[in-house]
Amino acid sequence: MAVDLRCPLHALVLLGCVIILSNVLCPVAAYLYNNRYAGDQVFRITPINKEEVQVLRNLLGNIKVDLWQPNSASLIRHNTTVDVHVRQNNTRGLRARLQKEHIHFKVFISNLQDEVEKQERHQSSRKRRSECLYDYEVYHSLEEIQSWMFKMNRTHPHLVDMFSIGRSYEGRPLYVLQLGKRTRPHKKVVWIDCGVHAREWIGPAFCQWFVKEALHSYQYDSVMRRLMNQLNFFIMPVFNVDGYHFSWTTDRFWRKTRSRNAKYHCRGVDANRNWKVKWCEEGASSHPCDDTYCGPFPESEPEVKAVAKFLRKHKKRVKAYISIHAYAQMLLYPYSYKYATIPNFDCVESAAHDAVTALYSAYGVRYRYGPASTTLYVSSGSSMDWAYRNGIQYAFAFELRDKGYFGFLLPEAQINPTCTETTRAVKTIATGLLKKCEIGMLQLDRERYPYL
Ligand SMILES: *[C@@H]1O[C@H](CO)[C@@H](O)[C@H](O)[C@H]1NC(C)=O
Ligand SMILES: *[C@@H]1O[C@H](CO)[C@@H](O)[C@H](O)[C@H]1NC(C)=O
Ligand SMILES: *[C@@H]1O[C@H](CO)[C@@H](O)[C@H](O)[C@H]1NC(C)=O
Repeated sequence: MAVDLRCPLHALVLLGCVIILSNVLCPVAAYLYNNRYAGDQVFRITPINKEEVQVLRNLLGNIKVDLWQPNSASLIRHNTTVDVHVRQNNTRGLRARLQKEHIHFKVFISNLQDEVEKQERHQSSRKRRSECLYDYEVYHSLEEIQSWMFKMNRTHPHLVDMFSIGRSYEGRPLYVLQLGKRTRPHKKVVWIDCGVHAREWIGPAFCQWFVKEALHSYQYDSVMRRLMNQLNFFIMPVFNVDGYHFSWTTDRFWRKTRSRNAKYHCRGVDANRNWKVKWCEEGASSHPCDDTYCGPFPESEPEVKAVAKFLRKHKKRVKAYISIHAYAQMLLYPYSYKYATIPNFDCVESAAHDAVTALYSAYGVRYRYGPASTTLYVSSGSSMDWAYRNGIQYAFAFELRDKGYFGFLLPEAQINPTCTETTRAVKTIATGLLKKCEIGMLQLDRERYPYL
């Protein structure tokens, strides 16, 4: 990478930031996030029958808790683990209730503040702020990600183009990077978005990693060169910019956007329930204080509206839509909103199979894959279903590492392996687009020509 002469200046600016925002971004002695998670706990509960499911739905639906998995009390199922972040003053009550009902649970994280501090202590001791090379193995704030995007745009003019597709609720630009050789004008497009849900920090880390990999390996990896020559990737590293920023400054576990509500003090809409596809039906909430709030109307969120508009405009070229989430270790495809088989199931299923196989080949990490409704849960108004219903034949949502051990606090040491394996999966999906999917036809042929 070329030496960047602006680095000393950056270092100075960052030093200023260290001083000014010391208890926000650069903790020295102060507690992070104002110590708001002190004594909070994360419970892992597995209801084993319908009665326990009912008790849990009532219990967790009524006290104010932060559900990590699933995202809403109505989605609790038997034999499926529930991870729930409980405020300090509710932990004793919940524990007593669960014991009384004989529901099995574990306290997974006994003091959430300690866990948050552990991750950030590690961050503040690292040398990245004095370094000129961008460190892809740490989590970055929105400001850092955006200046990194500008730098990519500046230093790789032949393979990168950066543009904005609109503004967020709080007025931040919504930047997208176009990757790929600018030879032919009407190339097929793969859209990848990360950071739809603010607290899923591994998402933006993946988008950045993928850009780095594409640009570096273009020189020596023939597969990547082919992809970059024949396709364009549109990469949106942080979809929910306001929420992501808020998760750095105020609430590490914020999920939604930051829009205000006319009637309630609760802010934000679930940007993955706000799309115009079976909007606000099963698996979404109409209550503004819920984490899966669908919003006052479809595309009410400026971020969702901007992406929907962009995808509609480039509908003919966009051949794959990929949305990066966390956590669960799954690769999901439509439908989310109903139990039904998509028309091009064979092609999509085979692409998903190849992708998880490629992912597994890196470190032996297994991903489940299948239709979102049966593999994860039913949800309506998701971007993946919307993309599919708008003619994008390959629509996927990844749920990256892990399966709940660290949850949203995935340690930075796992950024490299998580992104390395996921890059393999995404490359496999993209490579598949360059071939015509023959499975459906082959099966037809088999019927017609049984000797094939
Ligand atoms: C749930 O898990 C328990 C214990 O593993 C098992 O006995 C039961 O059959 C499971 N129920 C269903 C419906 O899968
Ligand atoms: C627990 O604390 C929160 C904020 O600290 C407060 O809003 C809530 O009312 C408290 N709940 C109980 C049951 O005391
Ligand atoms: C990215 O670089 C191009 C020149 O290569 C420039 O025209 C464009 O304005 C840049 N994008 C942004 C957002 O600055």
